[in-house]
Amino acid sequence: MLVLGIETTCDETAAAVVERQADGSGKILSNIVRSQTAEHARFGGVVPEIAARAHVDLLDGIVASAMKEAGVGYAQLSAVAAAAGPGLIGGVIVGLTTAKAIAMVHDMPLIAVNHLEAHALTPRLTCALAFPYCLFLASGGHTQIVAVVGVGQYVRLGTTVDDAMGEAFDKVAKMLSLPYPGGPQVERAAEDGDAKRFTFPRPMLGRPDANFSLSGLKTAVRNEASRLVPLEPQDVSDLCASFQAAVLETTADRLSVGLKLFQEQFGTPRALVAAGGVAANRAIRGALQDVAARAETTLIIPPPALCTDNGAMIAWAGAERMALGLTDTMEAPPRARWLLDANAKAPVGHANSRAGY
Ligand code: KG4
Ligand code: ZN
Repeated sequence: MLVLGIETTCDETAAAVVERQADGSGKILSNIVRSQTAEHARFGGVVPEIAARAHVDLLDGIVASAMKEAGVGYAQLSAVAAAAGPGLIGGVIVGLTTAKAIAMVHDMPLIAVNHLEAHALTPRLTCALAFPYCLFLASGGHTQIVAVVGVGQYVRLGTTVDDAMGEAFDKVAKMLSLPYPGGPQVERAAEDGDAKRFTFPRPMLGRPDANFSLSGLKTAVRNEASRLVPLEPQDVSDLCASFQAAVLETTADRLSVGLKLFQEQFGTPRALVAAGGVAANRAIRGALQDVAARAETTLIIPPPALCTDNGAMIAWAGAERMALGLTDTMEAPPRARWLLDANAKAPVGHANSRAGY
């Protein structure tokens, strides 16, 4: 089975062709990602209107490159999949409409993929992981702990009640005048910093649920930074190191609760899987390793290019759904919000714009 996948929910324009064998294993034939970071950098964050226009300009060429690199023609494809949400609605419309046009012209099935489901199923593409497993997804738009029970069967065990983790890294970077995207910059600055110089709050620590909160921590960093102005490079490093230490401790605590909830409901997870841009952070990877070891499970982090947004994960989720006969009609709507777990309720105190709980 050969599936073309299209991803346009945020600031990456991406397309890929993935093959799924009858035994359930997968192979990436092409995976083209064009990041729009440069277009958004001077605004210090993703501008939805600029992103949507860039997707319109870039997508046709990216799809053509993905097909060419895979060396396949449209007649050989089994289906076309697009991320139909959640995400910035302008971009979602561009990707989904393109996929619908391809499906119509070449008379093939359409699969409207939930972007979060695609992150959740990626380890089955890279290392044939069996269900059930526990996913920690931490990106610029999402911070969730999810029990991945089967294709289309997801139970959210925890989520952020305010900012997403990557968003907190980006905002801290911005207040310290570090360039966008801020996560890698904060990580780098933290390497030269004293993590004990500032005692920032460890939000939600010890709570029986597995939810996250990051906005209070971010405000604490802002208050400390304004008190110190003008900031010396060492101040910036110490603020970053102290912020990251608080994120690490909170993450470890929240995930150990998440894994306990998982164990109670689904037994021992086959693995703890981390995905999303924040999973690129080495200090966070170290903390996850410890948490997984304590829960007697293994940590799996897909390669960085498959942790961040890409077309292969959409194609793969499309292939997994297709294998179960789960295709969509031309009426499939683009969605700004789309819960992975339809039964999940907004957490108490939820108050956010981007986190898309
Ligand atoms: O998954 P991703 O590429 O895109 C989406 O948000 O969907 O994640 C990007 C986010 C940004 O907020 C970025 O600052 C954060 O991941 N990030 C990091 C690191 N690398 C990327 N955060 C902390 N440390 C990093 N090394
Ligand atoms: Zn994503």
